[in-house]
Amino acid sequence: MPSPSLQGILSRVSLLPKGITLQHKVPTGLDRKETEVYRQLDPERLPKHIAIIMDGNGRWAKRRHMPRVAGHRAGVAAVRSTVETAARIGIHALTLYAFSEENWKKRPKSEVDFLMRLLSRYLKAEVPTLNKNNIRLEYIGRRHELPEDVQERMAWARHSTAQNTGTVLTLALNYSARSELVDAFRSMVNSVSQNGGLEHLRIDEDTVARHLYTSHLPDPDLVVRTSGEMRLSNFLLWQLAYAEIYVTPTLWPDFRGLHLLEGIAEYQKRERRYGGLNGDSHGHAGPRTSLADLVAGLGSNGTTSATDSGSESSDSENSDSENKAKPHHAKPHASKVTRKH
Ligand code: FPP
Repeated sequence: MPSPSLQGILSRVSLLPKGITLQHKVPTGLDRKETEVYRQLDPERLPKHIAIIMDGNGRWAKRRHMPRVAGHRAGVAAVRSTVETAARIGIHALTLYAFSEENWKKRPKSEVDFLMRLLSRYLKAEVPTLNKNNIRLEYIGRRHELPEDVQERMAWARHSTAQNTGTVLTLALNYSARSELVDAFRSMVNSVSQNGGLEHLRIDEDTVARHLYTSHLPDPDLVVRTSGEMRLSNFLLWQLAYAEIYVTPTLWPDFRGLHLLEGIAEYQKRERRYGGLNGDSHGHAGPRTSLADLVAGLGSNGTTSATDSGSESSDSENSDSENKAKPHHAKPHASKVTRKH
């Protein structure tokens, strides 16, 4: 049984006013900047499921006068950093939009082939790290339409991580939310036709959710889109109904775990209402004042020793030498002329 937290003990003996949180321990493995942002978070209100639309690889490459595929290659480091940070801080589920059905149909064959090879190589190289971080791999999308060798590698990687109990990393590959809904309706009809016929068909929200590709996951609480675009691009249209949307101008190859933490910090500032009124958060915790905020508000005389500053990680910079990204606030770009999916 886990030992009660300082927060829990103080709340129980009424030493801690309601709505005030203590800083929790910082998970091991976060670098100095990540630790700084993590300390501003309330670990009890982390999003359970984060979905990310990885975008901007082509623009990243273009700015460097490199071929588009160089952006995809650089995107792998962003995937690695983001996945590891999510796992370290205990995010239950992370879903990455890696390859849409539209990508498949509308990009040159050479780029699609490159992405397939990159995915295969990523899966082969990353399984040991996924296992080390207790991450279980899953997929959503019409994977039977992918090249057979890629499907085999995907099955191998999924099988090799199936025993892990930490973060569920779901890769959306050849994915389209509309196709997912079509497949869900087909699946509902198939299942009743094998179980007594159409007169037994009962459709409600739970039934639909059970037949989606994401039946293994809770709905995302937060969706992140990189590169400043303000679209969902046919991604998890059903599941994102109540998700908070965080758009960052950072191009995907520059995105790191630090940016994920900044997105979570922004998420925690939002009030989630689920269609209710102010303050009615449907059983979900609303915005709270952290002790750090309170102390900051007290100014330089605000001395307190109540903060549990114990950290399992050293404050020293960690080894991610590629992490050159600067902390920033999301400033979505002004409207764009061109539009892609
Ligand atoms: C969008 O950028 C990105 C993609 C279509 C592919 C995503 C792939 C990766 C991040 C590579 C590695 C992923 C895995 C899971 C191994 P874009 O090409 O649409 O960029 P643009 O909008 O700037 O042209």
